[in-house]
Amino acid sequence: MEILRSVAAVRRSLYGWRLAGESIALVPTMGNLHAGHDSLMAIARRHADRVVASIFVNPTQFGPGEDYASYPRTPREDAARLRAAGVDAVFVPTVAAMYPDGRDGSTTVSVPGLSSVLCGAHRPGHFDGVASVVLRLFNITVPDVAVFGEKDYQQLVLLRRMARDLQLDIRLVGGPTLREPDGLALSSRNQYLDAGERQLAPRLHELLQDCRRRLLAGGQGFAAIERRAFRQLQAQGFVPDYVAIRAAHDLSIPAPGCRRLRVLAAARLGRTRLIDNIAVQLR
Ligand code: PAF
Repeated sequence: MEILRSVAAVRRSLYGWRLAGESIALVPTMGNLHAGHDSLMAIARRHADRVVASIFVNPTQFGPGEDYASYPRTPREDAARLRAAGVDAVFVPTVAAMYPDGRDGSTTVSVPGLSSVLCGAHRPGHFDGVASVVLRLFNITVPDVAVFGEKDYQQLVLLRRMARDLQLDIRLVGGPTLREPDGLALSSRNQYLDAGERQLAPRLHELLQDCRRRLLAGGQGFAAIERRAFRQLQAQGFVPDYVAIRAAHDLSIPAPGCRRLRVLAAARLGRTRLIDNIAVQLR
């Protein structure tokens, strides 16, 4: 596996593959890789001849007071994991390479609407940071396919919109969320949970499943289901940001007759912000 540290090195390696007619899949990550990332690499492998991962803890998607400085950085373990997953190359840029004029002086990409709802309403600027770094990664690697985890469902929908709006010739593929046996979605941030919080954390997924049961049973308004789940999270010790039932394709408030739904939630447990979501297909 090649470890590429500069934009020029990425361009050199990937140019050779492209010249040989090979297709390329990109899996952008912030490192501290776990089994969820392994599954994204495996999906990438099914979609292209070459798999490139990136590891970059992107400062522009962290707000003031968020965990940019303390975000777990485990480069050695990550490289071993990527090698074991059969990844062909990993791009590990510096902040200066990605933002030559500094994080505030560089061009920002903003996806209107989608970047200011749900998680965007609680993390102002977060999705501008995500779109800005992902577009840079796309421009550097020019992949045929890019793979993102569905745990960050809003991110996936927003990046699909960005790709469509900016006429990018890149297929975005979503990878299903991997879970612990008790239902907790795998996330690098789970390691922030103390023992008591870790025991409580799977309740978030249980509540989403309860929302799905209620939606499938019918007879209850969406707002009532959201309100009930929000209050239950509070009662169990979470500080919820939102529980929302949305149209799966664009995260809008579902129009009457909309059948492909997504239930999304974000809630804090102590200093950890957990997010999760599930699909609901109404009959
Ligand atoms: O999902 C993530 O890990 C990040 O938001 C991403 C897509 C790598 C951009 O920094």
